[in-house]
Amino acid sequence: MEWTSSTGRKILLQEGDITCAEADAIVNAANSALAGGGGVDGAIHRAGGPEIMRELDGIRAKTGGCPTGSAVATGAGRLRARYVFHAVGPVYRDGRRGEPELLAACHRKCLEMAEEKGASTIAFPAISTGVYGYPVEEAAEIAIREAKAHLERPDVKLQEITFVLFGRHAHGAYAAALKR
Ligand code: APR
Repeated sequence: MEWTSSTGRKILLQEGDITCAEADAIVNAANSALAGGGGVDGAIHRAGGPEIMRELDGIRAKTGGCPTGSAVATGAGRLRARYVFHAVGPVYRDGRRGEPELLAACHRKCLEMAEEKGASTIAFPAISTGVYGYPVEEAAEIAIREAKAHLERPDVKLQEITFVLFGRHAHGAYAAALKR
């Protein structure tokens, strides 16, 4: 499933494990302590190796972590990517405590970082839709909206944004959002 912007840039959907994605930058679904965890976080650290956490230790020592709605970049260790962007999505409560804005900010921050680093491809997981409980339909709407807005800009270097989804439900939600 894919979508092409008026400027010829693409959004792609894939089902599977994001650690196998071939992209210049892979987005991690991290926590504000940058402490690692399960889900995407666990998979990326397992596949990428200890270098990634060592870099995060340095960042944490300097900044104390990463605020929700933002992201920090590290190398990708053994992963095929050049960078891992550790994005901190919001924990979903009831959708009326700024969660949508924070989730959108997460995606925008990763897209901006991709431009700063000169990445031409980036792979996102469904941030906040696991442990953080964000309803996947709403999260998909936000993620796709931010991706489309970014790729419609004439000046961006990013050529391709891929969403790597775990399971049919998430894939279906993103496909529906992409069609809208
Ligand atoms: N590849 C792609 N998607 C994955 C993978 C994987 N290897 N593992 C899990 N997912 C999916 C989940 O099914 C969910 O749809 O990624 C989405 C995000 O789920 P989480 O990884 O639980 O991330 P999130 O909901 O953002 O919660 C972040 O969980 O692992 C901890 O340290 C992390 O505290 C942080 C919190």
